[in-house]
Amino acid sequence: MIIPSCLYGRSSEQAFLLDALKRTTEETVEFVGVSGGGGIGKTFFVMETLRNAVPKEGVFAKGKFDSQSASPPYSVWIQAIDELVGQLLMESMLQNEVWKLRILDALEGYAQILIERVPKLELLIGPQPAIQPLPPLEAQSRFHLILNRFFQLFAFRERPLVLFLDDLQWADEASLQYLAYLLEDWKTKHLLVVAAYREEKFRVPNALSHIEIRLAKRGATMSRIHLNPLQSADLKHMLSDAMRDIDGLVSVLLQKTDGNPLFLKQILQDLFEAKLIEFDEYSGRWLWNLLHITETNVADNVAAYISVKIKHLPSSTALALSRAAFLGSSFALESLLPFVEHSADELSGILDYAVREGYLQVLSEVDSQYKFQHDRIQQAAYELLEDYDCSDLHMRIGMSLAQRLRMVGDVNEFEVVNHLNRALNHFERPEQKLELADLNLLAGLKAKQSTAYETLWDICVKPWSYW
Ligand SMILES: Nc1ncnc2c1ncn2[C@@H]1O[C@H](COP(=O)(O)OP(=O)(O)O)[C@@H](O)[C@H]1O
Ligand SMILES: [Mg+2]
Repeated sequence: MIIPSCLYGRSSEQAFLLDALKRTTEETVEFVGVSGGGGIGKTFFVMETLRNAVPKEGVFAKGKFDSQSASPPYSVWIQAIDELVGQLLMESMLQNEVWKLRILDALEGYAQILIERVPKLELLIGPQPAIQPLPPLEAQSRFHLILNRFFQLFAFRERPLVLFLDDLQWADEASLQYLAYLLEDWKTKHLLVVAAYREEKFRVPNALSHIEIRLAKRGATMSRIHLNPLQSADLKHMLSDAMRDIDGLVSVLLQKTDGNPLFLKQILQDLFEAKLIEFDEYSGRWLWNLLHITETNVADNVAAYISVKIKHLPSSTALALSRAAFLGSSFALESLLPFVEHSADELSGILDYAVREGYLQVLSEVDSQYKFQHDRIQQAAYELLEDYDCSDLHMRIGMSLAQRLRMVGDVNEFEVVNHLNRALNHFERPEQKLELADLNLLAGLKAKQSTAYETLWDICVKPWSYW
């Protein structure tokens, strides 16, 4: 499954941002704040919207603030300059010569200030004279001025400059001061600043209102786009695109499982565990190798497949499941306990594991009742025991049920004789045989009352005919 990397929804927001970009072809500076929770798609929205629009209509650079404050002040501006210089270096020699002269002219002998922070600028403009140090405040003003001169070089009427500042909520004080300075400068024109941020998370309090005030000084306004969760129609669109590629997998799995959903669930779980189907975070795709999946050997039918799987379970789980299968399609932990060599706590852990693996489901938490997920699973578990074990176990279960029938009476006679009749080889003494015959008679009479003749035959008569 491929989740395509295109922007879903957001059409009105896109139109809004593109309008702001258009307006910068007039004299204006534009500031667009894009807000929304983490992961709502701020970065993606801005990049996708501007990626297509800006190459034709302007120059684009971006910087991202760091959540850990690990980067030095102004680093977001340095990233943007680095990106712009990188773009210039890709142009022709002639273009580079023109840009070199423009930059040197604009920076008036102070270009070394930028080279110190963006070393690759030296490749474009050559080595520059050292700078006289100044007291901190004046040094900062000089730096701000040089930055302005540099950015202003890139903004033209027909080709505005677009700066994207991502994660503005983590901005440092110095970078924000410079942002205000850049926006306020009358010489700054044809500039669109797009800033993405999470509301309420600003490191510097009132950062946005300071910028708004500075913008207002030159008659510019701050526009805002708030990204809401995607609509269900957008999700539908996204999911149906993502599923389009699934046809090949569907036909292989259909062929392997014969459309049996139980089988399909089991196989899917196995394919995930064997990492034959994986989600690739990097590309945002579900990946699988259809050839490997096609070559995976699976048994011809569900029962065979499940019995192979069950055989590979840890022995304690296999044993508990096989004995549980003797008790019936559903059973209580308490009734299974006498037939395993585990404490109640251990058995509960084992059964929980079987639940997680999809063999059992919990019927009732209160009295620890479980149920096999499917009779095929119960059957596969049942077949795990060797013949000898089988009759031995039927004997033990039958005896314990018979005792319960005598003492409490809340047990079905059929269940008792069903187990005991499968363990006829254990009845050697005549009085034991007689007791069993009595029980069969009791069950037989019940069956006759309810005219359940097949049951009567299958459970009470047939086993004895071989005795
Ligand atoms: N409108 C959208 N359509 C499709 N995918 C989107 C959309 N918005 C976000 N995404 C996906 O969600 C992921 C997170 O978005 P991102 O822009 O990083 O969130 P934010 O910056 O708000 O934390 C992106 O990698 C992108 O693949
Ligand atoms: Mg982001």
